[in-house]
Amino acid sequence: MPNELLKNKKGIIFGALDENSIAWKTAEKVHEQGGSFVLTNAPVAVRMGSIDLLAKKTNSIIVPADATSNSDLDNLIDETMKHFNGKIDFVLHSIGMSINVRKGKHYTDLNHDWLTKGWNISAASFHRLMQCLYNKDAMNEWGSIVALSYMAAQRVFPDYNDMADNKAYLESVARSFGYFFGKEKKVRVNTISQSPTPTTAGKGVKGFDGFIDYAEKMSPLGNATAAECANYTVSLFSDLTKKVTLQNLFHDGGFSNMGVSQEIIDSITKK
Ligand SMILES: NC(=O)c1ccc[n+]([C@@H]2O[C@H](COP(=O)([O-])OP(=O)(O)OC[C@H]3O[C@@H](n4cnc5c(N)ncnc54)[C@H](O)[C@@H]3O)[C@@H](O)[C@H]2O)c1
Repeated sequence: MPNELLKNKKGIIFGALDENSIAWKTAEKVHEQGGSFVLTNAPVAVRMGSIDLLAKKTNSIIVPADATSNSDLDNLIDETMKHFNGKIDFVLHSIGMSINVRKGKHYTDLNHDWLTKGWNISAASFHRLMQCLYNKDAMNEWGSIVALSYMAAQRVFPDYNDMADNKAYLESVARSFGYFFGKEKKVRVNTISQSPTPTTAGKGVKGFDGFIDYAEKMSPLGNATAAECANYTVSLFSDLTKKVTLQNLFHDGGFSNMGVSQEIIDSITKK
Protein backbone atom coordinates (compact mmCIF):
# COMPACT_ATOMS: atom_id res chain seq x y z
CA MET A 1 0.00 0.00 0.00
CA PRO A 2 1.46 3.41 -0.92
CA ASN A 3 2.78 5.61 1.88
CA GLU A 4 3.66 9.26 1.94
CA LEU A 5 7.28 9.26 3.06
CA LEU A 6 8.14 11.92 0.47
CA LYS A 7 4.95 13.98 0.56
CA ASN A 8 5.65 17.61 -0.46
CA LYS A 9 9.25 16.79 -1.40
CA LYS A 10 10.58 17.87 -4.77
CA GLY A 11 13.72 16.88 -6.59
CA ILE A 12 15.72 15.95 -9.66
CA ILE A 13 16.38 12.39 -10.89
CA PHE A 14 19.28 11.82 -13.31
CA GLY A 15 19.87 8.68 -15.36
CA ALA A 16 16.57 6.93 -16.23
CA LEU A 17 17.33 5.47 -19.65
CA ASP A 18 14.91 2.54 -19.77
CA GLU A 19 12.81 0.50 -17.38
CA ASN A 20 15.83 -1.47 -16.15
CA SER A 21 17.67 1.67 -15.01
CA ILE A 22 18.09 2.07 -11.26
CA ALA A 23 16.95 5.70 -11.72
CA TRP A 24 13.75 4.52 -13.44
CA LYS A 25 12.83 2.29 -10.50
CA THR A 26 13.73 5.11 -8.12
CA ALA A 27 11.44 7.53 -9.96
CA GLU A 28 8.58 5.03 -9.66
CA LYS A 29 9.16 4.51 -5.92
CA VAL A 30 9.57 8.23 -5.20
CA HIS A 31 6.32 8.88 -7.05
CA GLU A 32 4.60 6.12 -5.05
CA GLN A 33 5.74 7.84 -1.84
CA GLY A 34 4.27 11.20 -2.84
CA GLY A 35 7.46 12.93 -4.11
CA SER A 36 7.59 15.07 -7.28
CA PHE A 37 10.60 15.48 -9.55
CA VAL A 38 12.07 16.66 -12.80
CA LEU A 39 13.57 13.87 -14.89
CA THR A 40 16.82 14.49 -16.71
CA ASN A 41 19.31 12.66 -18.89
CA ALA A 42 21.87 13.46 -21.58
CA PRO A 43 20.10 14.91 -24.66
CA VAL A 44 20.99 11.85 -26.77
CA ALA A 45 19.61 9.49 -24.11
CA VAL A 46 16.39 11.52 -23.92
CA ARG A 47 16.01 11.10 -27.70
CA MET A 48 16.94 7.39 -27.82
CA GLY A 49 15.55 6.08 -24.52
CA SER A 50 11.99 5.71 -23.26
CA ILE A 51 11.99 8.41 -20.58
CA ASP A 52 8.77 9.92 -22.04
CA LEU A 53 6.84 6.91 -20.75
CA LEU A 54 8.23 7.39 -17.27
CA ALA A 55 7.42 11.10 -17.33
CA LYS A 56 3.83 10.36 -18.26
CA LYS A 57 3.51 7.68 -15.61
CA THR A 58 4.93 9.88 -12.84
CA ASN A 59 3.45 13.18 -13.98
CA SER A 60 6.91 14.71 -14.41
CA ILE A 61 8.58 17.05 -16.86
CA ILE A 62 11.85 16.24 -18.64
CA VAL A 63 14.71 18.72 -18.88
CA PRO A 64 17.65 17.28 -20.86
CA ALA A 65 21.13 18.00 -19.49
CA ASP A 66 24.58 16.67 -20.25
CA ALA A 67 26.06 16.20 -16.77
CA THR A 68 29.45 17.42 -18.04
CA SER A 69 28.08 20.82 -19.07
CA ASN A 70 27.81 23.66 -16.56
CA SER A 71 25.37 25.57 -18.76
CA ASP A 72 23.10 22.50 -19.10
CA LEU A 73 23.17 21.95 -15.32
CA ASP A 74 22.51 25.65 -14.63
CA ASN A 75 19.55 25.53 -17.01
CA LEU A 76 18.25 22.30 -15.45
CA ILE A 77 18.35 23.73 -11.92
CA ASP A 78 16.79 27.05 -13.00
CA GLU A 79 13.99 25.24 -14.87
CA THR A 80 13.41 22.92 -11.90
CA MET A 81 13.12 25.79 -9.42
CA LYS A 82 10.80 27.60 -11.81
CA HIS A 83 8.67 24.47 -12.22
CA PHE A 84 8.35 23.94 -8.47
CA ASN A 85 8.31 27.63 -7.65
CA GLY A 86 11.07 27.20 -5.07
CA LYS A 87 13.98 25.13 -3.81
CA ILE A 88 14.27 21.34 -3.96
CA ASP A 89 14.70 18.55 -1.40
CA PHE A 90 16.43 15.64 -3.15
CA VAL A 91 18.73 14.80 -6.07
CA LEU A 92 19.69 11.38 -7.46
CA HIS A 93 22.92 11.16 -9.50
CA SER A 94 22.60 7.83 -11.34
CA ILE A 95 25.14 8.31 -14.11
CA GLY A 96 27.99 6.16 -15.32
CA MET A 97 29.87 5.60 -18.56
CA SER A 98 33.36 4.45 -19.54
CA ILE A 99 34.46 4.45 -23.17
CA ASN A 100 37.33 2.12 -22.23
CA VAL A 101 34.80 -0.40 -20.85
CA ARG A 102 32.57 0.00 -23.88
CA LYS A 103 35.40 -0.55 -26.33
CA GLY A 104 36.98 -3.39 -24.36
CA LYS A 105 40.28 -1.57 -23.66
CA HIS A 106 42.32 -3.44 -21.06
CA TYR A 107 43.16 -1.60 -17.80
CA THR A 108 46.88 -1.94 -18.54
CA ASP A 109 46.41 -0.28 -21.92
CA LEU A 110 43.85 2.49 -21.33
CA ASN A 111 43.15 5.27 -23.78
CA HIS A 112 43.63 8.31 -21.54
CA ASP A 113 41.41 10.62 -23.59
CA TRP A 114 38.60 8.12 -23.05
CA LEU A 115 39.59 7.83 -19.40
CA THR A 116 39.24 11.61 -19.01
CA LYS A 117 35.82 11.61 -20.72
CA GLY A 118 34.55 8.73 -18.60
CA TRP A 119 35.85 10.36 -15.39
CA ASN A 120 34.18 13.63 -16.37
CA ILE A 121 30.81 11.90 -16.92
CA SER A 122 30.91 9.34 -14.10
CA ALA A 123 32.74 11.15 -11.30
CA ALA A 124 33.53 14.85 -11.83
CA SER A 125 29.90 15.45 -12.87
CA PHE A 126 28.92 14.80 -9.25
CA HIS A 127 31.12 17.68 -8.10
CA ARG A 128 29.93 19.87 -10.98
CA LEU A 129 26.29 19.16 -10.12
CA MET A 130 26.72 19.85 -6.40
CA GLN A 131 28.67 23.04 -7.16
CA CYS A 132 25.78 24.31 -9.33
CA LEU A 133 23.21 23.39 -6.64
CA TYR A 134 25.34 24.98 -3.90
CA ASN A 135 26.06 28.22 -5.71
CA LYS A 136 22.41 28.68 -6.68
CA ASP A 137 21.36 27.81 -3.11
CA ALA A 138 18.90 25.40 -4.73
CA MET A 139 18.56 22.87 -1.88
CA ASN A 140 16.15 23.19 1.04
CA GLU A 141 17.56 22.63 4.53
CA TRP A 142 17.58 18.90 5.45
CA GLY A 143 17.61 18.01 1.77
CA SER A 144 19.40 14.87 0.54
CA ILE A 145 21.75 14.13 -2.37
CA VAL A 146 22.54 10.53 -3.38
CA ALA A 147 24.89 9.09 -6.01
CA LEU A 148 25.26 5.45 -6.99
CA SER A 149 28.55 3.63 -6.59
CA TYR A 150 30.02 0.14 -6.77
CA MET A 151 32.35 -1.84 -4.53
CA ALA A 152 35.15 -1.79 -7.10
CA ALA A 153 35.97 1.56 -5.44
CA GLN A 154 37.45 -0.46 -2.52
CA ARG A 155 38.22 -3.94 -3.87
CA VAL A 156 39.68 -5.28 -7.11
CA PHE A 157 37.25 -6.35 -9.85
CA PRO A 158 39.58 -6.59 -12.89
CA ASP A 159 36.94 -6.11 -15.59
CA TYR A 160 35.41 -3.04 -13.94
CA ASN A 161 38.38 -1.24 -15.46
CA ASP A 162 38.66 2.58 -15.12
CA MET A 163 35.13 2.72 -13.65
CA ALA A 164 36.70 1.44 -10.39
CA ASP A 165 38.80 4.60 -10.17
CA ASN A 166 35.81 6.77 -11.16
CA LYS A 167 33.77 5.28 -8.31
CA ALA A 168 36.59 5.88 -5.81
CA TYR A 169 36.66 9.53 -6.91
CA LEU A 170 32.85 9.79 -6.77
CA GLU A 171 32.77 8.51 -3.19
CA SER A 172 35.49 10.94 -2.17
CA VAL A 173 33.59 13.87 -3.72
CA ALA A 174 30.51 12.84 -1.70
CA ARG A 175 32.52 13.18 1.53
CA SER A 176 34.39 16.36 0.56
CA PHE A 177 31.38 18.28 -0.81
CA GLY A 178 29.11 16.72 1.82
CA TYR A 179 31.12 18.49 4.52
CA PHE A 180 30.41 21.94 3.05
CA PHE A 181 26.81 21.09 2.15
CA GLY A 182 26.24 19.87 5.70
CA LYS A 183 27.91 22.81 7.46
CA GLU A 184 26.45 25.58 5.32
CA LYS A 185 23.07 24.23 4.17
CA LYS A 186 22.19 21.24 6.40
CA VAL A 187 22.06 19.04 3.32
CA ARG A 188 23.25 15.42 3.46
CA VAL A 189 25.33 13.73 0.76
CA ASN A 190 25.80 9.97 0.49
CA THR A 191 26.67 7.27 -2.01
CA ILE A 192 24.94 3.90 -2.22
CA SER A 193 27.22 1.03 -3.22
CA GLN A 194 24.82 -1.24 -5.06
CA SER A 195 25.04 -4.96 -5.98
CA PRO A 196 25.67 -5.81 -9.64
CA THR A 197 22.36 -5.10 -11.41
CA PRO A 198 21.29 -6.07 -14.96
CA THR A 199 20.96 -2.63 -16.61
CA THR A 200 22.45 -1.17 -19.79
CA ALA A 201 25.49 0.14 -17.87
CA GLY A 202 25.86 -3.05 -15.79
CA LYS A 203 25.63 -5.45 -18.71
CA GLY A 204 28.26 -3.42 -20.57
CA VAL A 205 30.95 -4.64 -18.15
CA LYS A 206 32.92 -7.62 -19.50
CA GLY A 207 32.17 -10.82 -17.56
CA PHE A 208 29.03 -9.30 -15.99
CA ASP A 209 27.14 -12.62 -15.94
CA GLY A 210 30.02 -14.18 -14.02
CA PHE A 211 30.24 -11.55 -11.36
CA ILE A 212 26.51 -11.17 -10.82
CA ASP A 213 26.36 -14.97 -10.19
CA TYR A 214 29.42 -14.84 -7.95
CA ALA A 215 27.93 -11.95 -5.91
CA GLU A 216 24.63 -13.82 -5.61
CA LYS A 217 26.42 -16.88 -4.19
CA MET A 218 28.57 -14.78 -1.83
CA SER A 219 25.82 -12.59 -0.36
CA PRO A 220 23.83 -14.06 2.56
CA LEU A 221 20.75 -12.12 1.44
CA GLY A 222 21.44 -12.44 -2.29
CA ASN A 223 22.01 -9.53 -4.66
CA ALA A 224 19.98 -6.37 -4.14
CA THR A 225 17.69 -5.58 -7.08
CA ALA A 226 17.20 -2.18 -8.72
CA ALA A 227 13.77 -1.88 -7.07
CA GLU A 228 15.30 -2.60 -3.66
CA CYS A 229 17.96 0.04 -4.34
CA ALA A 230 15.15 2.45 -5.18
CA ASN A 231 13.51 1.76 -1.81
CA TYR A 232 16.79 2.40 0.00
CA THR A 233 17.16 5.69 -1.86
CA VAL A 234 13.62 6.69 -0.84
CA SER A 235 14.65 6.17 2.79
CA LEU A 236 17.67 8.43 2.26
CA PHE A 237 15.48 11.14 0.70
CA SER A 238 13.00 10.89 3.58
CA ASP A 239 13.10 12.66 6.95
CA LEU A 240 13.86 9.32 8.65
CA THR A 241 17.59 9.60 7.81
CA LYS A 242 18.30 13.28 8.52
CA LYS A 243 21.64 12.73 10.26
CA VAL A 244 23.11 10.23 7.79
CA THR A 245 25.75 11.98 5.73
CA LEU A 246 29.28 11.58 4.23
CA GLN A 247 28.66 7.82 4.01
CA ASN A 248 29.23 5.19 1.39
CA LEU A 249 26.37 2.83 2.20
CA PHE A 250 26.63 -0.76 1.02
CA HIS A 251 23.38 -2.08 -0.39
CA ASP A 252 24.56 -5.49 -1.46
CA GLY A 253 22.92 -8.29 0.55
CA GLY A 254 26.00 -8.46 2.81
CA PHE A 255 28.55 -9.08 0.03
CA SER A 256 31.00 -6.40 1.22
CA ASN A 257 31.65 -8.07 4.59
CA MET A 258 32.01 -11.62 3.29
CA GLY A 259 35.25 -13.58 3.04
CA VAL A 260 33.87 -16.67 1.38
CA SER A 261 30.52 -18.48 1.40
CA GLN A 262 29.79 -22.19 1.55
CA GLU A 263 28.24 -22.03 -1.93
CA ILE A 264 31.48 -20.67 -3.40
CA ILE A 265 33.57 -23.31 -1.57
CA ASP A 266 31.24 -26.05 -2.84
CA SER A 267 31.42 -24.72 -6.39
CA ILE A 268 35.23 -24.90 -6.51
CA THR A 269 35.83 -28.03 -4.41
CA LYS A 270 36.18 -31.19 -6.42
CA LYS A 271 33.81 -33.83 -5.04
N1 LIG B 1 24.21 -1.86 -12.95
C1 LIG B 1 25.07 -2.15 -11.99
O1 LIG B 1 25.57 -3.30 -11.86
C2 LIG B 1 25.49 -1.07 -11.03
C3 LIG B 1 26.04 -1.44 -9.77
C4 LIG B 1 26.44 -0.43 -8.90
C5 LIG B 1 26.30 0.92 -9.28
N2 LIG B 1 25.76 1.24 -10.50
C6 LIG B 1 25.65 2.64 -10.87
O2 LIG B 1 24.29 2.99 -10.98
C7 LIG B 1 24.20 4.16 -11.80
C8 LIG B 1 23.09 3.98 -12.82
O3 LIG B 1 23.41 2.98 -13.74
P1 LIG B 1 22.40 1.83 -14.21
O4 LIG B 1 22.99 0.55 -13.80
O5 LIG B 1 21.02 2.16 -13.80
O6 LIG B 1 22.55 1.89 -15.81
P2 LIG B 1 21.85 2.80 -16.94
O7 LIG B 1 22.66 2.53 -18.17
O8 LIG B 1 20.41 2.53 -17.01
O9 LIG B 1 22.10 4.30 -16.42
C9 LIG B 1 23.26 5.05 -16.69
C10 LIG B 1 22.79 6.44 -17.08
O10 LIG B 1 23.88 7.37 -17.22
C11 LIG B 1 23.41 8.30 -18.19
N3 LIG B 1 24.47 9.15 -18.73
C12 LIG B 1 25.57 8.74 -19.45
N4 LIG B 1 26.27 9.82 -19.85
C13 LIG B 1 25.63 10.93 -19.36
C14 LIG B 1 25.88 12.32 -19.43
N5 LIG B 1 26.94 12.82 -20.09
N6 LIG B 1 25.01 13.17 -18.82
C15 LIG B 1 23.92 12.69 -18.15
N7 LIG B 1 23.65 11.37 -18.04
C16 LIG B 1 24.49 10.50 -18.64
C17 LIG B 1 22.83 7.37 -19.27
O11 LIG B 1 22.08 8.06 -20.24
C18 LIG B 1 22.02 6.43 -18.41
O12 LIG B 1 20.70 6.91 -18.22
C19 LIG B 1 25.58 4.37 -12.41
O13 LIG B 1 26.30 5.32 -11.63
C20 LIG B 1 26.21 3.00 -12.24
O14 LIG B 1 27.61 3.04 -12.25
C21 LIG B 1 25.33 0.26 -11.37
